[in-house]
This record gives sequence, C-alpha cells and structure tokens, in this order.
Amino acid sequence: MEKTTLGNSGIKVSKVGIGLWQASGDWKARDNDVIEAVEQAHNLGVNFVDTAEAYGNGHSESVLGKALKQVGRDNFVVATKVNGAHLRYDELQKAAAASMSRLGVKEIDLYQVHWPDPWEQIPLKYTMKAMEKLYLEGKIRAIGVSNFAVRDLEEARSCLSRADIVSNQLRYNLIQREIDDEVTPYCKKNNITIIAYSPLAQGALTGKYTAAKPPKGDVRDLNQIFAPANLSQISRLVEVLSSVAKSHKRSISQVALNWVASLPGFIPIPGVKSAAQAAENIEALDFELTKQDIEKIERAARQVKVDYLPS
Ligand SMILES: NC(=O)c1ccc[n+]([C@@H]2O[C@H](COP(=O)([O-])OP(=O)(O)OC[C@H]3O[C@@H](n4cnc5c(N)ncnc54)[C@H](OP(=O)(O)O)[C@@H]3O)[C@@H](O)[C@H]2O)c1
Repeated sequence: MEKTTLGNSGIKVSKVGIGLWQASGDWKARDNDVIEAVEQAHNLGVNFVDTAEAYGNGHSESVLGKALKQVGRDNFVVATKVNGAHLRYDELQKAAAASMSRLGVKEIDLYQVHWPDPWEQIPLKYTMKAMEKLYLEGKIRAIGVSNFAVRDLEEARSCLSRADIVSNQLRYNLIQREIDDEVTPYCKKNNITIIAYSPLAQGALTGKYTAAKPPKGDVRDLNQIFAPANLSQISRLVEVLSSVAKSHKRSISQVALNWVASLPGFIPIPGVKSAAQAAENIEALDFELTKQDIEKIERAARQVKVDYLPS
C-alpha cells in the first residue's frame, strides 16, 4: 500500500486508514469482529488506525489495545483523541496516560484534540501547551486536531513553539464538503493533512440504504442524512456511483472512497465493523477513476441537497 506523510511529522501512513468508533457500542458492532477488521487491515498493508477516548468511554481504545497485541503494536500508527471534558492542562495529561494504558502503548503516535472547546471556557493555550509538553516528553509523536476551523487552527498553532499541528480530522465525503470553502485551502497551504472522517457518509454512500430501508437502531437514528427525503436525493448520486462502479468492476462504496483518497492531502478513515468491510474499503484504492468518472460523480454530488432540519 502506498504511503504518505502526516503533515511535517515524518510519520508515514497508508493512503487509507481505518476508524474504530465502531467499537464503542454506538454502532452495534461486535468487539471480535472489529479486532478481525484490524488484523485484516494489517494483512492488506494498512498501518493507520483512529480511535478516541470518547468512543464508548474508552472501550474502543481497549478493543484496539487487544488487536495491537495480536498484530504487533509497531505495525500501526495509532491515532487517538482527547475529549472535550479533558482539555485543561493537567486533565489532558491524565487523559493521555489513561489512553496509553487502554491501548497498551508507551507512546501515542498521533494525539488529537477531538473538538475545540465550544464555550471557550478553557483557553486553547492551556490545551496546546499540554499537548506540546507530551510531545517534548516523547509521550506523543505528533500533535493533531479535529473539527478545527481556520480561526481555531491559527490560534492553536500560535500557542506552539516547538512543534506544529500535523493533521486536522474533519468530516468529508462526496456530499459533505463544507470544509472546502476555508479549511481545505488553509490545511493544504500549511501542510496539515486532512484526515477525512465519515468518508462513506456513515453508509449513505454505500448503496445499501434507501428511503424505504434506512439504518435503524444505532447512532445513525440521530443523523438527519438518513431522513427519507435526504436518502431520496442521495439515491440519484448512488445511481451514478453504481454505473461508475460497474465499469471498473468495483462496489459503490469503493468508488466513493477512491474519490476521497485520490485528493492530495486527504486520508480517509472509513469506519469498519468487520474484516470484510475492512478488505472492501482498503481494496478501494486498487484502481483509478478517470477524469470523466470524476466529473460525472462530482456533477451528480453537487445536485444533492441535504436538508438537516428534522422532518
Ligand atoms: N473526529 C470526529 O469528530 C469523528 C466523527 C465521526 C467519525 N470519526 C472517525 O472516522 C471514522 C469513520 O467515520 P464514520 O464511522 O462516522 O463513517 P463512515 O466511515 O462514513 O461509515 C462507517 C459505516 O459505514 C458502513 N460501512 C463501512 N464500510 C462499508 C462497506 N465496505 N460496505 C458497506 N458498508 C460499509 C458501516 O456501517 P453498517 O455496516 O452498519 O452500515 C460502518 O459503520 C470513525 O470510525 C471514527 O474513527 C471521527
């Protein structure tokens, strides 16, 4: 699998990673299936995995810890995140130690601030100074953020003197490209890798959900993208993805993922519930979309109007 570098860190990661929010309990996935997904990812040349202390209150990190014991810790660049309740200087350091213990690692490869503090009660300076301390102590190899707008990135970077932010983890897929106005250009200009979460729009771009058959009984019950009117809109894009997929003998989700992965500076981290999903998502990078394919897909995607108001 081709590798790319996370920002200016020198850390080499595969062009696609895997996300383990799925091991939190929110997605009704089984721990053993997720462990098998991590093993499969390793077998297929993926070395990048994302989790967070917020996922199942540490459960996802513990599941990853078990998987790392089986596949060998050094075979993965491990990314995790501090949650919004732990952004104070001392609390952040305790949170990092707790994450390391659950993961069974002596250092975290990429430690990310999960969300900026929405109420700005904790000055970002304290959070970033705590991150920098961990970096200088060798407890984390690189500093990342998530869901940061340009103003947050600028402020966070101005608080660091001995390190820089290497990545910003953001929602990005064919139908949710809000970051392209400001954040994407800023990240590109400043060599900050965009780690694309929800690259399959939580399954809406796989072709298996329709207005008549939305996902039910998991965290997606709260995601307006699965409202019938939105799924009807998305179905037109899914048809286009399906025709492109057929021409390459691939699946719909593979086309949707390939599109994200082929953008310079972006690394998608599809969430995986099983070894089969991991394999399908990783093999999504084994082919190339033509210029015409990309134009066709992007044209169809621009016509999708998602309404986030509850119906
Ligand atoms: N930083 C943040 O704030 C943030 C927010 C969200 C996510 N994330 C990270 O990003 C990762 C991915 O995002 P996400 O989980 O929101 O969305 P996603 O990757 O777009 O969708 C994942 C879901 O799609 C389905 N799926 C995956 N591969 C498939 C395949 N090959 N064929 C058919 N269905 C497939 C699975 O659900 P079903 O099989 O049940 O349909 C899976 O749970 C997470 O695991 C997490 O690590 C970060």
